[in-house]
Amino acid sequence: MDYAFFDRAAEVLPDACFTQPPDLGVVLGSGWGEALVKDHVLLRIPYSDIPGVGRSTVVGHAGEFVLYERFGRRIAAFCGRRHWYEGVGWETVVAPVELLRRMGCARLLLTNAVGGINPALHAGDFVILRDHINTVGVNPLAGPHREEWGPRFPDMTEVYTQHLRDMLRAVARKLGIRTLEGVYAFTAGPVFETPAEIRAYAHLGADVVGMSTVPEAVFARACGIQVAGLSLVANLAAGISPVPLTHEDVMRASTEAKPLMAKICDAFIEAL
Ligand code: HPA
Repeated sequence: MDYAFFDRAAEVLPDACFTQPPDLGVVLGSGWGEALVKDHVLLRIPYSDIPGVGRSTVVGHAGEFVLYERFGRRIAAFCGRRHWYEGVGWETVVAPVELLRRMGCARLLLTNAVGGINPALHAGDFVILRDHINTVGVNPLAGPHREEWGPRFPDMTEVYTQHLRDMLRAVARKLGIRTLEGVYAFTAGPVFETPAEIRAYAHLGADVVGMSTVPEAVFARACGIQVAGLSLVANLAAGISPVPLTHEDVMRASTEAKPLMAKICDAFIEAL
């Protein structure tokens, strides 16, 4: 990746972003950012003002960066994300994580919408990521190595930090929200999967499938940032779902789940 790309993005962020490390970075997809409870907003920057991050090309994924306080914690929230399938390159996809790294952020919560593969899952369920399978076969760390981004060959034994997973499970349970732990299969998109692909991913050990999160998680983990991943099952995966899949249905399920997603995030921030 091109390091200067991130310099240009960092340049437009006010000094206030870099003077005190955020207690948590958050990357939210699916319009969930607006539901986060913010006691005191320190600054808001539309993605269109951040070079390289730019405007999402996906309906329902408009973005802004919000630095705010909640429960006395400082939260750096990237509301909206860019995806590999947009064809915008790795820099744009992982820019939020690189900016968080430059802010000195040590913990990151990634949220997303997924298709459910594990038969125990229903639409509307929440899944805490235990691990992932990168079916795409490429990742943002290929290319010239930078010391800042961790070792040349980063360990991925525990991408999703155990104690953050425990925290997510505990806060959801307190709220009376059922969660399962699962393995996320990352696909390139933008096509939804075929039923045969879903059967293959099930055999490989995947519980859910989605088109995001893994690039950010891999990059953050390599940089030494602790990662938590929380998925909303928006639909049953292809071949399991009785109906064809549409982006509109995924967005509708994400909107319906917004209050619960915000509640879990809020309780997680309180528990930090
Ligand atoms: N497949 C891939 N990505 C998704 C899905 C799905 O079924 N649902 C939401 N995001």
